[in-house]
Amino acid sequence: MPNEIVLAMRSISKTFPGVQALDHVDFTLRRGEIHALMGENGAGKSTLIKVLTGVEEFESGEITIAGFKGNMINHSPQEAQAHGISTVYQEVNLCPNLSVAENLFIGREPKRAGIIDWKTMNTKAKDLMESLDIHIDVTRALENYSIALQQMFAIARAVDMSAKVLILDEPTSSLDDIEVEKLFHLMNRLKSEGVGIIFVTHFLEQVYEVCDKITVLRNGALVGEYETEKLPRVQLVAKMMGKDFDDLAAIKKGGEAEERSGELVIDAQGIGKQGTIKPYDLLVRKGEVIGLTGLLGSGRSELARSLYGADKPDSGVLKVKGRQVSVSEPLDAMKAGMAYLPENRKEEGIVSDLSVRDNLILALQAKKGMFQPFGRKEQEELADKYIELLQIKTAGRETPVKSLSGGNQQKVILGRWLLTDPDFLILDEPTRGIDVGTKTEIQKLVVKLSEEGKSVMFISSEVEEMLRTCSRMAVLRDGQKVGELEEGELDQNNIMKAIAGGGGDE
Ligand SMILES: Nc1ncnc2c1ncn2[C@@H]1O[C@H](COP(=O)(O)OP(=O)(O)OP(=O)(O)O)[C@@H](O)[C@H]1O
Ligand SMILES: [Mg+2]
Repeated sequence: MPNEIVLAMRSISKTFPGVQALDHVDFTLRRGEIHALMGENGAGKSTLIKVLTGVEEFESGEITIAGFKGNMINHSPQEAQAHGISTVYQEVNLCPNLSVAENLFIGREPKRAGIIDWKTMNTKAKDLMESLDIHIDVTRALENYSIALQQMFAIARAVDMSAKVLILDEPTSSLDDIEVEKLFHLMNRLKSEGVGIIFVTHFLEQVYEVCDKITVLRNGALVGEYETEKLPRVQLVAKMMGKDFDDLAAIKKGGEAEERSGELVIDAQGIGKQGTIKPYDLLVRKGEVIGLTGLLGSGRSELARSLYGADKPDSGVLKVKGRQVSVSEPLDAMKAGMAYLPENRKEEGIVSDLSVRDNLILALQAKKGMFQPFGRKEQEELADKYIELLQIKTAGRETPVKSLSGGNQQKVILGRWLLTDPDFLILDEPTRGIDVGTKTEIQKLVVKLSEEGKSVMFISSEVEEMLRTCSRMAVLRDGQKVGELEEGELDQNNIMKAIAGGGGDE
């Protein structure tokens, strides 16, 4: 029966100290349906999912699953799994030092005479990955692979457990176009096999590409359930934000090219690191927003990291504002006026037990020196300013950052780097996981920073967003900088051609 309900959540409520995360929310999922769960950062999406999967308890409401009698109240994650619910969480939660194969079969390793059968496990893992068109060495430790691939492993694991309900909480935020296509292909395959899929994402295009239905949450309450076909995009955004929305396209880029032909802020010659990024030259002028484009794994983040000293380069000379600097670690770079928002925020950014204020102040404090601590009042003012500027949804500035929603944690890290008032700001996927409204705000902020004379390096998998913000782009392919696109050459087509290569763009 195609229309059979596989999952019904009724009147679910959940409060955290000071926050009503869910307020009598209903959610219905049917067989063979891909159902988007949408809402702004902090709307309650991840909480609804955690309640469903037994990670969080809830106060009231009912959850029923097809084929099981009765109500699942405050069940364990193991029970949820036994009921055929399989989940890929917003944060990849695999074990970095175990092999890919071990991660795929953790807790359900194939055994022979009570001992883990490594050979079978590795073969099965390899077959599974091949079936998803991912060709890698499954015996290598997970940490050797990019976040995007780690995300794919988590999905593969979920798929392999023959779920009835598959939950994907922002799985695509670290995937490139090709990987997203692979994922969608996979989702459609599962859909045709009758699996019900819950898809949480901030990418509207993706919703319209694969989803049959959309449920919108706002401030922990249900706004409504809609058929994708019958809900135009603008209306979806309006429902998420609870207000009408002036079009995204209204971002104006900064000054004209002449204004940017000023002072050189970054002059990199022959910087490289063996096995990571081939030696490259790069000039960035005051007020420029330079984009880095290329497929995932093409070396975008590696280039950024080599500039910033997060990965110490083994060749080349770097001048910042005309002065040669030796950057062998991030603190050197920070003191030279650089800031770097890393791609992997969970590992390199957030200090989850500290407050929002502490997290915001961290980089500025490090720059100033730990022996000259900021006064409490000054810290509070700075924190409040950035909570306001970035519209960080938090109960207060003293709230531990771990209790913020994923997107809001992200904003905290972005705020941390803005606070250091750098001359050169490197942003690696700054809007990943950020809702549409705030995304536009961040893009505007980048443009505004450039107008104020800051230089920015912008890395994003979304070409559209780069087009809105960048004045120039460097193209990377296979760990090498292969060319640049000037302002006049920046359009979707040229970028795609340059990324793919072979089009004579070098
Ligand atoms: N463990 C927690 N402790 C306290 N508050 C929490 C906790 N987890 C979530 N919250 C709060 O509940 C609300 C809903 O958060 P949730 O993570 O569900 O949002 P979301 O819709 O998934 O947002 P995002 O798009 O940013 O991922 C937020 O206000 C958040 O701060
Ligand atoms: Mg979330």
